[in-house]
Amino acid sequence: MSIANKLAREELVEMVPYQSARRLYAGGSEFSSKIWLNANEASGSGSYQVNSDCINRYPDFQPDNLINAYSKYTGLENTNILATRGADEGIELLIRAFCKAYQDSILICPPTYGMYAISAENHGADIVKVPLIEVDGLNCQLDLEGLSTQVGKIKVVFLCSPGNPTGNLLTEHSIKAVLDIFGNSAIVVVDEAYIEFSPENTALKWLNEYPQLVVLRTLSKAFALAGLRCGFTLANPDIIEMLSKVIAPYPISAPVAEIASSALSPVGLEQVSIRVQETNSLREQLSKWLIEQFWCVDVFKSDANFILFKTVDSQTKSFIFSCLEQQGILIRDQSKQIQLENCLRISIGSEQELSILKQTIAQAIATQLKEEK
Ligand SMILES: Cc1ncc(COP(=O)(O)O)c(C=O)c1O
Repeated sequence: MSIANKLAREELVEMVPYQSARRLYAGGSEFSSKIWLNANEASGSGSYQVNSDCINRYPDFQPDNLINAYSKYTGLENTNILATRGADEGIELLIRAFCKAYQDSILICPPTYGMYAISAENHGADIVKVPLIEVDGLNCQLDLEGLSTQVGKIKVVFLCSPGNPTGNLLTEHSIKAVLDIFGNSAIVVVDEAYIEFSPENTALKWLNEYPQLVVLRTLSKAFALAGLRCGFTLANPDIIEMLSKVIAPYPISAPVAEIASSALSPVGLEQVSIRVQETNSLREQLSKWLIEQFWCVDVFKSDANFILFKTVDSQTKSFIFSCLEQQGILIRDQSKQIQLENCLRISIGSEQELSILKQTIAQAIATQLKEEK
């Protein structure tokens, strides 16, 4: 037995880490030879200059230039903002700050983003699941009745809107209902990693009304800065202060703060707005195309930079996934998630990338049909 296996916490020995898109397929030297549509990143980015004059010094705990820029962008006070290494670090901090290991629980509503469960497992917090359901003809919405049976048993509730991998927004009414149902017994987190694709639906407007509300944001999606690792946890100052006790001493490096501040400048925000319009329009085109395909039985409504769709059976799902993979086009198989049998997810890349994807699928299906005859 290795020294690590002998001495580690028992439950870590068998634990499977989060299978992130980049762990499944490493980028390395292949970034330019493949089409990456599996991580909901942007297909291109701006270019930024970095001043390296002061990197002999530790950065500020929360760099002023960055916090001021995000405050201006959101209209929040600086005391409502904690900059983190991606939204992922925000998830981890919330669990570490509010859940006692081997005692407290988080609540998630699957199908949902995998890191809530992985961070909870890592920390030894229990995971309660209340799956999404159809409500009033809307797919993938919160089961308010199911959620209300959990009041008093949960420390942190994770909602995701727009949801990953489902893509849709949760209704405003249902998010407010969860805040009311849990009252002051739990922190209610609304993960808004994709909110720039439908900005009017943010929960930020309720921050003053609900002291238990936390909103997670990131620069990894609409800002096209996934490689920078910069996100924000937005909440009332008491919560921000508590999270500041568990975060690393220098979470944001000076070059990260500098690039992120430029991305939040008026010029940077204009680029985001153009990117969002283009992405939303390409998403609608791809969605239309998918609906027309005989092998596709459902296209989920998306308010984000990706589309989830359901193929007619598991054989077709695997066929489409592998014919794309063979051509160096990477999408994400979501079929192992609760309720997502035979489902695949495509990130909205560039027009050219999506056109190659469509051609590749169409050709492979046509060849297969010919061979079957
Ligand atoms: C819903 C959701 N939340 C958070 C994250 C993590 O974002 P970041 O890159 O800021 O850690 C992702 C990344 O895919 C996501 O889909």
